[in-house]
Amino acid sequence: MEREIFRVENLSKSFGTEREKDCVEVIRNISMSIREKEFIVILGDSGCGKSTFLKILAGIHPASGGNITLDGKSCGVSIPREELRKFGFVFQSDNLLQWRTAGGNLRFILGMMKLKGSRWEKRVDEMLELVGLLDYRHVYPHELSGGMKQRVGIARALVHDPEILVLDQPLGALDTITRKMLAFEVLNIWKKTQKTVIMVTNNVDEALLLASRIFIFSPLPAGIAREFIDDIPVEERTVEISRNRRFNELRGEINALLRVNMKGGASYGK
Ligand SMILES: Nc1ncnc2c1ncn2[C@@H]1O[C@H](COP(=O)(O)OP(=O)(O)OP(=O)(O)O)[C@@H](O)[C@H]1O
Ligand SMILES: [Mg+2]
Repeated sequence: MEREIFRVENLSKSFGTEREKDCVEVIRNISMSIREKEFIVILGDSGCGKSTFLKILAGIHPASGGNITLDGKSCGVSIPREELRKFGFVFQSDNLLQWRTAGGNLRFILGMMKLKGSRWEKRVDEMLELVGLLDYRHVYPHELSGGMKQRVGIARALVHDPEILVLDQPLGALDTITRKMLAFEVLNIWKKTQKTVIMVTNNVDEALLLASRIFIFSPLPAGIAREFIDDIPVEERTVEISRNRRFNELRGEINALLRVNMKGGASYGK
């Protein structure tokens, strides 16, 4: 069994103070423990609090209550700045720096983290190669396709060698075919890098292709409605996966749960 790398206990988040009438409770009592090299997928209705959960991990918002433990160290309601480099983030929109090339976007992160020298310079090329874009390292974002931009985003999230990769619907803005192809690339990247991944998606098939465990978030305020272990063997996660018996069993169960649990649940089924 791999070691526990990350744990949240009774995490909660409200925007605004309780006395304010527009106070929104977004997250209520989320607890989860994540081991090294796991691929965690979070599924839930639009607006239920998934990005808010990831933004707490990114240090963008502190939680309102609960505790986060990172690498065995208790951090309270927010991860200290110096620990944030253990995470690599890909946010919902690509948010690349438009005035920097693909390689320049990766170097920008290294600069921010004060990581200098030939080892890191080499890693820029290695990460661009990992996502199949080494030949595009001098190209600016506006000259890249949507899928390529997301791949640069993934390379950028990995460039400082984080322990945990956090992906917020990284493939959400892409057309169906590109999305499927990139999902397989994410699977390969995970196999090659052996990183711990926490990913939000709204696509059940994508979740089943990638996950070790799937957490279904309930509608606002988000809590964990159910956890599924995705025990489809890694060698069966191929383009044939939709014919896999276990894939179809899990897919049926998850879709049924999403349909009863969520206002927008019908959009998850296919
Ligand atoms: N900074 C903020 N201030 C106040 N309310 C916020 C803030 N950020 C998010 N919210 C609210 O929190 C709720 C959850 O938003 P969040 O972005 O986490 O949803 P989500 O699950 O990621 O949705 P989607 O799947 O559409 O991306 C929404 O009701 C949203 O309006
Ligand atoms: Mg979101």
